[in-house]
Amino acid sequence: MVRGTKLEVYVGSHQAEEIWTLPGQLLWDILESRGHHVKGECGGRGTCGHCWVRVEGEVSPPGPEESRFMLEQGVSPGFRLACHCRVLGPAQVYLSSMELSPFLKAEGRALGFEIAPEVKRISGAVPPRTEEGTETLWERLAQAFPESHLCLTFDNWNRLSTEVSRGEVSLNGVAIGPCLVEVTASSTPRVLGVAVDIGTTSLYAALVDLEDGRRLSVVTRGNPQKTYGADVISRVSRATENRGGLTRLNEVLVAAVNSMIDELTSFHGVSPADVYQVVAVGNPVMLHLFAGLDVRGFGGAPFVGVFRHSWSETASTFGIRIHPRGQVRILPQVGGFVGADVVAGLLTLDLHGRETFLYLDIGTNGEMVLYHKGEWWACSAAAGPAFEGGNISSGMRAEPGAVDRVWVQEDKIQFNVLGEGPPLGFCGSGLIDLVAAMLELGWLNQNGTLSPIQGGPQGSFVLNESAAPELRRVGINQNDIRQLQLAKAAIRTGVDIMLERAGLSVSDLDRVYLAGTFGQYLRPASILRLGLLPPVRPESIIGIGNAAAEGAIMALLSREKQKEADRLARSIRYLELASQPDFQEVFLRSLDFPS
Ligand code: FES
Repeated sequence: MVRGTKLEVYVGSHQAEEIWTLPGQLLWDILESRGHHVKGECGGRGTCGHCWVRVEGEVSPPGPEESRFMLEQGVSPGFRLACHCRVLGPAQVYLSSMELSPFLKAEGRALGFEIAPEVKRISGAVPPRTEEGTETLWERLAQAFPESHLCLTFDNWNRLSTEVSRGEVSLNGVAIGPCLVEVTASSTPRVLGVAVDIGTTSLYAALVDLEDGRRLSVVTRGNPQKTYGADVISRVSRATENRGGLTRLNEVLVAAVNSMIDELTSFHGVSPADVYQVVAVGNPVMLHLFAGLDVRGFGGAPFVGVFRHSWSETASTFGIRIHPRGQVRILPQVGGFVGADVVAGLLTLDLHGRETFLYLDIGTNGEMVLYHKGEWWACSAAAGPAFEGGNISSGMRAEPGAVDRVWVQEDKIQFNVLGEGPPLGFCGSGLIDLVAAMLELGWLNQNGTLSPIQGGPQGSFVLNESAAPELRRVGINQNDIRQLQLAKAAIRTGVDIMLERAGLSVSDLDRVYLAGTFGQYLRPASILRLGLLPPVRPESIIGIGNAAAEGAIMALLSREKQKEADRLARSIRYLELASQPDFQEVFLRSLDFPS
C-alpha cells in the first residue's frame, strides 16, 4: 500500500492548509488542484523558469534544467520551480510573501536587510573659478565633495582636467567608504561589485549591481588548485614543502578569479573597471592562498594563520583586475579551519524565533556551528574525501552518470542516475542513500560489516549486476563502507562534543541547517539512518544551498552586514576537536551505525 504524505501550504506567514498527497507528485499539480496558482508563463511546462516557490522538507533534487535556471537567475537557497519539484515526503511550501522573493530585490530591502553598501555613487558640483582663477582642480574638487578624501588615479585627474571648464560643472563620483575613487563629468558610472566564494573544490562569483541589489550574472568553476591536492591539508603541504609552491597556488587562484570577473562583466556588457569591490569568503587556507600569505600555521595544531579578522586592501595588491582603486574585502574567520564562508552562511539565517540550531557545511572538511540563546560554538572535522566520492571504489562527483539517489521499494534497491545514460558510479548523496538502504535491508550490521548474504567482509554489493556485459559495474565494498564510517564519525563527533560543551541534548535542537551544494542533496532520513547526525526530527533538517555565497552577496550590499560578520566571528567560541580529552572516545563511539 502506498502511503500519503503531508504538504503544508503557507501563504504569507499563515498556514493556509494541509494537503495529503501521494509521494512523487509535482508540486505545481498539487498546488493547482487546490486553487493555489503559482506564477509561470509557460503554464507548468517547465520552460519559463518563473514558478519559484520556497520549499522545505523531502522533495526531489533539482534536475539539470532547473539547476540551469537557478544558476542563470541566481536564485536564493530553498527556492524551487514548482513545476520541476516533486514532493517525496513531508514538506512545507511558502507562497506569496513579499519577503520570500527568490531574488535580491530592487526596492532597497533584500532578504530582510537594507541595501547600504560600502561603495556608493555620489554627486557634486565643482564651483566656478574665481576671477583670479588661482584655484587648482584639486581645491575645486575638494569643495565639490567636502565629505570625501580624494583618492583618484593620475589618469582620472588628467581626464577631469579636460572635462572641467572654468564654470560650474556637475560631477558624478564613486566612493568606497570615505575615499572618492572615481569622478567624471561626462557619464554616470556603473557601480558594481563581485561576491566570491573560494571553496577548496569549486569557485563561485556573482556580479551584483550595488545600487539596486540585483544579481546580474553568476559563474562557477572548479578550483584550479585541485591539481595540487584535493583538500586543504595537501594544499598546505604543497605551499610549504615545495619551492615556489605558495606563489604557484596563489597565482592559479588569482588568475581564476580574474577570469571569472572578466567572464561576468563581458557577459553583462560592462567593464571590469566598473567593479569597485570584491567581497571574498572561503575557508582560512583558501583565503590565505588567495592573498598569497603563508599557510605554515595550518600545518599543525593550533592551526593559526597570519590573519583572522576582516580585512580590506586595494584590489591590485591581490592582483585582482577591477577598477584601479577598487578594493578586495575579506570577511572574518572564526579559527582553525572555520572560515569566512561559515560566517557568511550564518549571516543569511533568520535567528528570529530560533533558540537552538546547528549549521553544518559538509565536504572534505566539515565545519559546524552550534547556536543556543545568543551563544555560539564552532569546530571543524576532517571528514576526508568520501562524501565527494573520493577513495570509494565506484565513487565519482555529482556529474552525469552518478547515482545520486537510492531507495528501497518492495525489498529491492532502486536508484536514480544523473543525466540520461547508465550508472557510472556514486556521488556522495547516492552513497549515503545506498548504505542507509543496505542497513534497512539488513545487509549491513551495526558495526558496518557486510552480511554473509553479500559475501561478508570480503564481498561487495553490485547495483547493476544484470546490466549488459559491456557496461561498468557500480558497487560498494567493505572498504568503501569503512571510509564512509570514518567520514560520518568525524562529523558526528564534532556535533556531539559541541552539544556536550554547551550543556545541551539533541532534543534541544530545533533546526539543523545543511549548507553547501552537497548538503542540499542529502536526504534527512538517510543521514539519520547512518547516524551522521544525532536523532533529530527529519523535518528539522533543512538544506540551504550555497549560503556562503549568499552571505558574501549580503556583505557586498550592506556595510551593516559586514559589521555583523565581525561581531559574529568574535562571538563564536572555536573548539579544537583533536585536543578535546574525550575526542577519541566519542569518535570511536560514532563509527557504528545506529541500531
Ligand atoms: S511554470 Fe514555467 S517553469 Fe514552471
